Amino acid sequence: MTKGHVTMKVNGKPVEALVEPRTLLIHFLREQLSLTGPHIGCDTSHCGACTVDLDGKSVKSCTMFAVQADGADILTIEGVAAADGTLHALQEGFREMHGLQCGFCTPGMILRAQRLLQENPAPSEEEIRMGISGNICRCTGYQNIVKAIQYAAAKINGVPFQEAAQ
Ligand code: FES
Ligand code: FES
Repeated sequence: MTKGHVTMKVNGKPVEALVEPRTLLIHFLREQLSLTGPHIGCDTSHCGACTVDLDGKSVKSCTMFAVQADGADILTIEGVAAADGTLHALQEGFREMHGLQCGFCTPGMILRAQRLLQENPAPSEEEIRMGISGNICRCTGYQNIVKAIQYAAAKINGVPFQEAAQ
């Protein structure tokens, strides 16, 4: 099969590669770029485990071909922490609020939450739940994921985080 030439920016670094037209973006990221943070939970665009940020939008990377990402600017979980290893407020929030158990959904959840907070820096609980509704978590029951995102929003906005009463 003839391979297509793609160039893109991934986690701030320029990437150039040859890909088969049938290669999904998630497989390109995981297998050709060895970025295994984005996970494959379903392959049918339901679970959100493969979510990455692409040109300022949350994208389920199992829903597009790698060649369609030619020229794109992509962020995966590997690019979320600062270069010196300092965790992003969301990563810290998930750790502090126990927003994960097995962690399978977490990379996609964090990427989705990051875009959500960029679009709406102070979301209500309902807006958070709606915002992550395309990402499935089979472990946590979501309560601590919501808290983790609220923690991050407070930290980013420089206001104290107050855990809501159960
Ligand atoms: S693997 Fe992409 S949505 Fe489930
Ligand atoms: S922490 Fe296990 S699926 Fe979300």
